[in-house]
Amino acid sequence: MAQSRILVVDDEALIRWSLSERLSEEGHLVAAAEDGAAAVKSVELEPPDLILLDYRLPDTTGIELLRQFRQSIPDVPVILMTGHSSVEHAVSAMREGAFHYAVKPLNLEEIAVLAEKALESRRLRTEIKALRQSSSAPYAFEQIVGESTPMQRVKRLMRKIAMTQASTILLTGESGTGKDLAAKAIHYNSDRKDRPFMNITCSALQETLLESELFGHERGAFTDAKRQKKGLLEQAQGGTVFLDEIGETTPGMQSKLLRFLEDKTFKRVGGATDVKVDVRVIAATNRDLPADVRAGQFRQDLYYRLTVLPIELPPLRDRVGDVPRLLQFFIARFNEEFRKRIVGVTADAMAALGEYGWPGNVRELRNAVERAMLLADGDELGVDDFMMLLGAPVLEAGRFELPAAGIDLEQVEQDFVRQALERTGGNRTKAAKLLAISRDQMRYRVEKFGL
Ligand SMILES: Nc1ncnc2c1ncn2[C@@H]1O[C@H](COP(=O)(O)OP(=O)(O)OP(=O)(O)O)[C@@H](O)[C@H]1O
Ligand SMILES: [Mg+2]
Repeated sequence: MAQSRILVVDDEALIRWSLSERLSEEGHLVAAAEDGAAAVKSVELEPPDLILLDYRLPDTTGIELLRQFRQSIPDVPVILMTGHSSVEHAVSAMREGAFHYAVKPLNLEEIAVLAEKALESRRLRTEIKALRQSSSAPYAFEQIVGESTPMQRVKRLMRKIAMTQASTILLTGESGTGKDLAAKAIHYNSDRKDRPFMNITCSALQETLLESELFGHERGAFTDAKRQKKGLLEQAQGGTVFLDEIGETTPGMQSKLLRFLEDKTFKRVGGATDVKVDVRVIAATNRDLPADVRAGQFRQDLYYRLTVLPIELPPLRDRVGDVPRLLQFFIARFNEEFRKRIVGVTADAMAALGEYGWPGNVRELRNAVERAMLLADGDELGVDDFMMLLGAPVLEAGRFELPAAGIDLEQVEQDFVRQALERTGGNRTKAAKLLAISRDQMRYRVEKFGL
C-alpha cells in the first residue's frame, strides 16, 4: 500500500510527538499542527489522507474544524480525540461526520488500529469513486474481489480469455460463486464490449419458447407468430450471449445448441435458410456436468464442445483468505447504499466468519453483510449481528484469533491454517475439516507457508 499522510492536530507537544512516533512506525508520513490555524494551513498546502483532531484547541474547537473539513475535504476521514469526561463531544463528532473518536488518555495501539481502518475506508472510497468514473467500471475485473491463489488464477485466465477470439466459454461453480459477474466481466473487457451482452436463463423457459427466444422465428411459424422475429443470437450480433443454467436444458435443445456452436449458423423457427452470426457464447452451470453426462442427462458431445475453455469459480470455503476482503468490499458498498458508517467486523466475528463454511458462497456472504448492517447498532459488526447465519455450533467450535484490522490476506490465511493445525495437534486431515477445505488444499497451503 502506498504511504499515507496523516495530520495530527493537538496543542500538547507530548501528544503530537507520541502519535507521530507511533504512526511513523506504521510507515506513514506524519505532519503535526498545534492549533486550528496551523491545521487549516497544512491542509491547504497538501490535504492528508487522515486527520487526528483534538477537541480542545487554543483558537477553536475540534468540532468547528471538523465541520470545516467536511466541507473542504469531504473524503478525508477525521478521528476526533476528546477528553475523558466529554463523551457528548464524541457523540456530536460522529454526528458531524467524524470517522471515529478516541478518548484521552490515548491508547496508542488502539489509535494505530483505528487509523489503519480509517485509511482503509478512505482507500476503498477512492477506489469506488474511480471505478464509477470509468465506463465499463461496474464489470471491471477489479470488481471481482479475491486475491487468494485460486481467485488470482481464475482472474488471470478470464483476462486472457476475454481478449482472445475464443467463441465458446464454460463457467462452472457452485451457486453464488460469481458466474454471472464473471460472464459480464469477460464481455465488458473484451473487444466486443460495445456490442450487446444478452442474457438468457435456459431453465426459465420451456423448450419451444427458449428455442424461439434464442433463434427467433419466421412469420407463421406458429399460431402467434404474426411476423418475423429475430432471436437473441441475432440481436447480439458482434457481442456475447450468456446461456445461464445450460445444465437444465432438454435433450432437444442440447442438440440444437450443439449444431449452432459447431458453425455459428442456425435456422429461425419455421425458417428454411441458414442465418450466420458472430457471437461469443458464454455458458454457465452450477451442476456437475460430467456427472450429468455419465447419467445420460447431458450430451457428451455438447459437453466437449463447451469445455474447450472451462473456467471454474472456486467455492468460498476453498479460499477463506478472501473472506476479510469480501467483507470489507460489501461493507463499503452498503455503507454507501444505506448511508451508514460501519468500519468493519469485530475480531470475534471475523474469526467465526472465517470458519463458517459458506454453502451459499459470495451471495450468502453479501446477504449476510447486508442483513447485519441493517441490524447493527454500533459501528462494527459483531458476532451477534451474524447470529442467524453462524448459529451455535460454529461458535462453540472455538474461535480463531485474528487481528481486527486483518487486511493482509496472505497473513490471515496463514494464520487460519496455523491455528487449525495447532488446534488439531498437527493433524492435517482434521485441520482441513476445521477450515472446510480439502486435504489437497491443506497440503498445498502447508507447503506454501512452510508450516
Ligand atoms: N468475487 C466476487 N467479488 C464481488 N462480488 C461477488 C464475487 N462473486 C460473487 N459476487 C456477488 O455475489 C452475488 C452472486 O454472484 P453471481 O450471481 O455471479 O453468482 P452465480 O455463480 O451466478 O450463482 P448462481 O449459480 O446461483 O446463478 C452477486 O451479487 C455478485 O455480484
Ligand atoms: Mg447466476
